[in-house]
Amino acid sequence: MNTKVWKVDKYVDNLESNPQLVDAAQLLRDNEVVALPTETVYGLGGNAFNDEAVEKIYAAKGRPGDNPLIIHIADREQLNDFVAEIPEKAEQLMNGFWPGPLTIILKMKQGVLSEKASAGLTTVGVRMPDHPVALALLKQCGLPIAAPSANSSGKPSPTTAQHVIDDLQGKIAGVLDGGPTGVGVESTVIDCTEAIPVILRPGGVTLEQLQEVIGEVKVDPALTDEAAKPKAPGMKYRHYAPNAPLYLVAGTKEFLQGLVDEKQQESLRVGVLTTEEHQTEYRADYVLACGKRSELESVAAALYDTLRQFNQSNVDVIFSEMFPSEGVGHAIMNRLLKAAGNKIISE
Ligand code: TXA
Ligand code: MG
Repeated sequence: MNTKVWKVDKYVDNLESNPQLVDAAQLLRDNEVVALPTETVYGLGGNAFNDEAVEKIYAAKGRPGDNPLIIHIADREQLNDFVAEIPEKAEQLMNGFWPGPLTIILKMKQGVLSEKASAGLTTVGVRMPDHPVALALLKQCGLPIAAPSANSSGKPSPTTAQHVIDDLQGKIAGVLDGGPTGVGVESTVIDCTEAIPVILRPGGVTLEQLQEVIGEVKVDPALTDEAAKPKAPGMKYRHYAPNAPLYLVAGTKEFLQGLVDEKQQESLRVGVLTTEEHQTEYRADYVLACGKRSELESVAAALYDTLRQFNQSNVDVIFSEMFPSEGVGHAIMNRLLKAAGNKIISE
């Protein structure tokens, strides 16, 4: 399949009538799948009403069929079609964070959306993305769009159109290139089907921000306890892994450097994931700065691109600094731990 690439300037007016966007929207209505930029990561979109379109999403990504898709909307009215009820706290979250990086799990009306999109669950995750290209595309096609991250299953999520092309060229109808995404980690997933909402996946909206709007918020125990079964099916999979084994290092720079030296003495090529503050302080084969430690948002924005860059460096092993698990650091550490298969070396 020939994958079209449309470059779209996200700052122009009247995006909805942009001919490339109209072309992409028509392909979505024809039940083809198209990658689109959002404020978090690129998504692989398809008509959420249609089994065939949804099957194409799973096939292109090589995604396990038991992992449900997030439904993207541009207008809250669309919820009436497929959501059974909207509790008060969900309403407050929509008022506070939409459009934005928050996916809300709600009870679903049965028999409306493609059953494959919900992977057999009775609930549905929905969000309104905060990206002009995504919103214009959703408005132009007039459909709820099922969209997982547009990477091959298991790879880091794509934060540029080039990442999508690297993974999915030839497997999807097109990519709308709206430039690099902003937040860099996926949306926060919060389950609002229980009296006290539960965070199933940390992401772009922080625990602290959620608490400010709705008060008490729980966190799925599986996020901290490896043995517990996560409530978001996707959270049980290893993800984001670079080709070389990755270890998180809990200790000083000197301790991390010692680990590098040891591996180099075994004639291995060693990579280090650090931040701009410490970039020049390590001696290794490949040192990458992932944003600035003093601004965790910049680390989130650069994280997936950094993990992908290690794959082009042919290092044998990677050591990474750790980050504080607060604010967006919660999502950063969650993704790094997955990428490392939970391997931590402590001083
Ligand atoms: O930022 C994002 O959320 C991006 C962009 C494209 O919107 N999308 C994304 O989708 O990250 P995906 O498919 O890569 O991750 C969706 C996560 C998975 O862990 C999935 O199991 C969970 O959300 N999920 C979806 N529907 C659910 C439901 N009804 N109940 C529990 N978890 C659900
Ligand atoms: Mg994903």
